[in-house]
Amino acid sequence: MLVVDFGAQYAQLIARRVREASVYSEIVPHSISAAEIAAKNPVGIVLSGGPSSVYEEGAPALDPGILELGVPVMGICYGFQVMAKALGGEVAKTGAREYGSTDVAIDASGSSLLGEQPTAQTVWMSHGDSVVQAPDGFDVLASTSSTPVAAFSNTDRGLYGVQWHPEVKHSPYGQDLLENFLHRAAGIPADWNPGNVIADQVAAIRAQVGSGKVICGLSGGVDSAVAAALVHEAVGDQLVCIFVDHGLLREGERRQVEEDYVASTGVRLVTVDAREQFLGALAGVSDPEQKRKIIGREFIRTFEQAQADLIAEAAADGDPIRYLVQGTLYPDVVESGGGSGTANIKSHHNVGGLPEDLQFELVEPLRALFKDEVRAIGRELGLPEVIVGRQPFPGPGLGIRIVGEVTFERLELLRHADAIVRAELTAAGLDAEIWQCPVVLLADVRSVGVQGDGRTYGHPIVLRPVSSEDAMTADWTRLPYDVLARISNRITNEVTGVNRVVLDVTSKPPGTIEWE
Ligand code: XMP
Repeated sequence: MLVVDFGAQYAQLIARRVREASVYSEIVPHSISAAEIAAKNPVGIVLSGGPSSVYEEGAPALDPGILELGVPVMGICYGFQVMAKALGGEVAKTGAREYGSTDVAIDASGSSLLGEQPTAQTVWMSHGDSVVQAPDGFDVLASTSSTPVAAFSNTDRGLYGVQWHPEVKHSPYGQDLLENFLHRAAGIPADWNPGNVIADQVAAIRAQVGSGKVICGLSGGVDSAVAAALVHEAVGDQLVCIFVDHGLLREGERRQVEEDYVASTGVRLVTVDAREQFLGALAGVSDPEQKRKIIGREFIRTFEQAQADLIAEAAADGDPIRYLVQGTLYPDVVESGGGSGTANIKSHHNVGGLPEDLQFELVEPLRALFKDEVRAIGRELGLPEVIVGRQPFPGPGLGIRIVGEVTFERLELLRHADAIVRAELTAAGLDAEIWQCPVVLLADVRSVGVQGDGRTYGHPIVLRPVSSEDAMTADWTRLPYDVLARISNRITNEVTGVNRVVLDVTSKPPGTIEWE
């Protein structure tokens, strides 16, 4: 299934929803030609929404030949309007904008797309222009009080369109609509799942690597853990993993990698204990950007040294290491341009930035996958839940969760408070609701408190629980008061030096998720 990207953030969401319907999807730019699409031999095409108006100068266009390929196509929002205009329908600025939840009336009995959906439903809209006249040969399937043509279809030609956004959760019947298009209208089977991804990737890795040696840096996070496990499944002990303990990890993380992960995968692991080196390099530094730079620099240094040692060892055996595993995900590929012509939003660098003259060939078994799919594959491979279900944790670790200078004592204090927060949130069954919950030590702030018999002058701990889909935007999670009370009691009683717990109630934007 191909998703044609007309800009904004919609295409990735559509691609994810299509995969949730067990159909493999890829994103392509709107500049793609009909011949290029035909060469990919898709089973269906979705045209995404986008921020433009079809009448704007330079508005993203579509090769009209794409609608003549005989492949089923569904247009969504802007994609719906592009389709209407290309086929001779009429799109106009009616002055009636619809943003947010909108009531729509469905009149589509017998339609495979909408025929079995409620005739009155609420959907998510975001448009200024409207289709006022469907192209010849099309049935109008839905309307709103201000949009006469809110959905249409031409079943004979396999062409469908909706003005609303079925891919967002605010359209309650949206996923059902997408699945109707995929499975019923286009007849695509629901047969894509983690099991066959593993089999495909194992075969692809074996074909790429042969009998060559492979190296991989583990961060403790889910992406590198799953990437390495897949490679290990494919080539066994031809793979060696390096794990750098920089001392900025959370409680238990090193053990999770060294014991739980190794026990469940059998990978060969080399741990580098660089805790003193990092603390030394961070001494006296409070500026967040400087801390990040130092941590990044030390990380690369340490990793390269460990790598050089392994390379020397392998070369002595007459069998050099030629491959490097990277846990690059599909959103990174899309946002970096992906070779498919999609806009270059940002360039991603894994493992702290790769040198220009990389001496390795990259092995990237997760390049086609979204995060939730990587987790599903990790579970299928039997990885421990503490790693597969782990919430995002920044590369610079606790180093950017101490506002002020990073010292060993402060790290110990923060590790303790963070462990309490994680344990209580998990015990309260809140993990699924929370994207991540940074716990921050305001080491440069002190306030007066009274603990036991005496006056204290301690540091505050900040709780930053956020809910998010992709970390680009976020809202603060409304945690139950009794859970907050338990966390606050435990931290102020059990963590020496902390006499106050505060809750961050800022969305992103304007606040970022991390404090530094
Ligand atoms: P912000 O704070 O920018 O964070 O809202 C967005 C997401 O990125 C994570 N983050 C980082 N991850 N290296 C990383 O690997 C970093 O330097 C870094 N800074 C922020 C953050 O935890 C959140 O998930």
